[in-house]
Amino acid sequence: MTITKKPSILFVYYTYSQQTQRVVESMADTLRERGCDVQLARIEFTDPRYAERFARFPLRHAYRDIFGMVLPQFRGVTGQIRIPDEVRSRSYDLVCIASPTWWLHPCMPIRSFIESDVAKTLLEGKRCAAVAVAHRYWRDDLRILKEHIVRRGGIYVDGSHFTAGGGPVDSMLALFSYLSTGVTKERYLGIKIPPATLQPSYVEQSREFANRLADSLLADSSVLAYG
Ligand SMILES: Cc1cc2nc3c(=O)[nH]c(=O)nc-3n(C[C@H](O)[C@H](O)[C@H](O)COP(=O)(O)O)c2cc1C
Repeated sequence: MTITKKPSILFVYYTYSQQTQRVVESMADTLRERGCDVQLARIEFTDPRYAERFARFPLRHAYRDIFGMVLPQFRGVTGQIRIPDEVRSRSYDLVCIASPTWWLHPCMPIRSFIESDVAKTLLEGKRCAAVAVAHRYWRDDLRILKEHIVRRGGIYVDGSHFTAGGGPVDSMLALFSYLSTGVTKERYLGIKIPPATLQPSYVEQSREFANRLADSLLADSSVLAYG
């Protein structure tokens, strides 16, 4: 007799302004509705060089705080993080890594996680997916997440991205407005700006992506059988 088990999924993510959190929670809800066992592991950014600026929302000095991350992000600097217990406590059928885009790259806390020994143990030989959450420029973030996953021995199965709306200039004004005030406004520096948070379609899109992940796991008998 074959005994079946629930497919297990772990989301590892970082969030500063809660957009990645919203995406991950929506995916987790869908996967639970599909009968999966889902755990969320939010990485904490504890590095003394940067933690203070990201400990409050909105940013105290938005321009200085955001532009201060340009060099560390492009140089691939890593920093101190706290990894929740869910990551070490067991193994999972699928691990999904979700990162806000910081200067076209996965944010430092997620990069620091992927380069850790804990990540190597977690990802090696496992199905993995990646999610980039950007204001606008998500492409490199997703590509780099995929490369890191493969380098750590993970089996990359799928990826998705989420963005806010607007054109190249007004969307960036909206981002600075949001991160410096903490609220969505209609104008910034006298210029009309689009909403600073994710496009409402993120709900449907995240559910579609989660359903794809569930379909692939539930179609695989080696995931469902004990032993
Ligand atoms: C330091 C920093 C750098 C950022 N760089 C980019 C960028 O290069 N491209 C982009 O589209 N969005 C950029 N953003 C915006 C974030 O990717 C976007 O707001 C995302 O939704 C944040 O996710 P979170 O709310 O989960 O923190 C940046 C935000 C911060 C704080």
